[in-house]
Amino acid sequence: ARTVARHRHFRDYLLLKPDSSAYPDATIDAPLRRIIDDLHDRGWSEQDGFLSPALMHALETECMASAKNGMLAMARVGLGATSSLQPAVRGDRIQWLEAGQSEACSQFLAIIEALRTALNRELFLGLHDYEGHFAFYAPGMSYQPHLDRFRGDDSRTVTITVYLNPAWLPEHGGALRLHPEGAATRDILPIGGRTVVFLSADMLHEVLPATRDRIAITGWFRRRAMRAPLAGARNHPA
Ligand code: OGA
Ligand code: MN
Repeated sequence: ARTVARHRHFRDYLLLKPDSSAYPDATIDAPLRRIIDDLHDRGWSEQDGFLSPALMHALETECMASAKNGMLAMARVGLGATSSLQPAVRGDRIQWLEAGQSEACSQFLAIIEALRTALNRELFLGLHDYEGHFAFYAPGMSYQPHLDRFRGDDSRTVTITVYLNPAWLPEHGGALRLHPEGAATRDILPIGGRTVVFLSADMLHEVLPATRDRIAITGWFRRRAMRAPLAGARNHPA
């Protein structure tokens, strides 16, 4: 039954990928092209070198300064009034990115914006905005298996995580473990400059504990909530 639901999701999002010969895409950078193709073909993508080393370093420095200055808050589980602190479920501390908070963040958000418009143009995803935060996992902290959607809010559509950890080694642990439906589990080390993109509604995933600080920017492209318009529409039982 879950397989059927997943395919319905894929059709909703991704059926209309244009024929690239009909829509020449010379303006799309190679990493964006690969992300688009991977999302279309299997619902997730892993790319190295998504950020330049210089930008990665600037963001790493900014995130570690925020951590040191007490500007990171324990992340919550759930939405709004019913959200709660559950460090054994989710052990990271976060700081939401604000446009203009630094030159590095502005550059990062410009790259994210290019990804957003490419996804809309190529996959007709209708993504209208982005929200993202620095995330800091102290050694031993983890995030139990979850989907990046809140009950009652289906606006988060694409998850993007960009890692900011220089010189990460396998023995440090801290993998992002993907559980793609119908495919083998995939462990991805949080190596600096690497980015992982997936469809938020479909991809069960978790963060394994590490032996050193583990930092990233995780964020989401959102669509306008579908719930209200669908409720009264024909052929879409509420
Ligand atoms: C999240 C998350 C993955 C990672 O913040 O929701 O799953 O690798 N992060 O940090
Ligand atoms: Mn997640």
